[in-house]
Amino acid sequence: AKKLYFDDLRQKFVDEYIIPTLKAGAVYQDKYPLATALSRPLIVEGMVKVAKKEKADALAHGCTGKGNDQVRFELTTRYLAPELKVIAPVREWEFRSREEEIDYAKKHNIPVPVTKTKPYSIDWNLWGISIECGKLEDPWNEPPEDAYQITTSLEKTPEKPEYITIGFEKGTPVSLNGKKMDTLKLIEKLTEIGGRYGVGRIDMVEDRLVGIKSREIYEAPAATILHTAHNELEKLVFSRDLFEFKKVVSQRYSQLVYFGQWFSHIKECLDAFVEKSQRFVTGEVKLKLYKGNCIIAGRRSLYSLYREALATYTSKDMFDHTAAKGFLEIFGLPSKLEGIRNKKESKWEI
Ligand code: ARG
Repeated sequence: AKKLYFDDLRQKFVDEYIIPTLKAGAVYQDKYPLATALSRPLIVEGMVKVAKKEKADALAHGCTGKGNDQVRFELTTRYLAPELKVIAPVREWEFRSREEEIDYAKKHNIPVPVTKTKPYSIDWNLWGISIECGKLEDPWNEPPEDAYQITTSLEKTPEKPEYITIGFEKGTPVSLNGKKMDTLKLIEKLTEIGGRYGVGRIDMVEDRLVGIKSREIYEAPAATILHTAHNELEKLVFSRDLFEFKKVVSQRYSQLVYFGQWFSHIKECLDAFVEKSQRFVTGEVKLKLYKGNCIIAGRRSLYSLYREALATYTSKDMFDHTAAKGFLEIFGLPSKLEGIRNKKESKWEI
């Protein structure tokens, strides 16, 4: 290397990647909050900036040929700088295993944070940590405690729960326990608190884009807490239609992020939908952290669609029970027609 650029992209990561993904409710295959996947297009954005400045004609990345990350790096490069060539040395060089790579590093005095007994491949950023390899490769093995980097094992978490309250404004988390807080700071704080209670450990078998099933564990206390809280607030302020439809968008959004299509017209369109959907996602969610759990303890919003007077079973009830009769007459009509028709069929059978 002749030159090194160092750029702190954390604020950009929060504003342009994490917050939109949180608002979208995007979690791959219902478990993985996408920390690694989200960081790739951000890294390429930074690399392309440097490449242009240095008038480079190619970008290099260190991915193997069987993972998702090569796809994310290369699709983003193609989108942002189609004129740049991509070089992937690890895909072309002679290494056949992780052991060989460790030997090579040793021989050439390259310091690496892995050993043959702790050969974990670890990717770590603000939104979470991804850990694979070693004992984890057998999906029957419970993850060894030493694989986890930031969360306390359940046996050692506090015996008493901790309550926290997260405030949202139009879908963006903006406060902790009633105190305004910059979202980056909030994520760091929740990583620390959640980690202490063992919240955000995820053990998953997932489908890679290249067709391989892989077993990976994740630690994402902040992402787990914020997705749980955000989703709960949406339940309070969304209509049933919006809630159900947004689930479809969340799932598609998570695939686009996972498959490396962060920069794409379809993702831009989904972002527009998501942004509109957040209009009333303002309010607070109270959570109880205990022994790896993140439990909803309360929610409130000025824009809540919940009406106690309609839901209550007490004398304060304002719901018009007599209206239900006519409603059932009409809503139940298709069921009645089918019931009559089915009866006829069984007669023909006789
Ligand atoms: N499976 C995750 C993804 O595709 C993480 C990949 C990187 N994992 C790692 N341990 N280096 O986004």
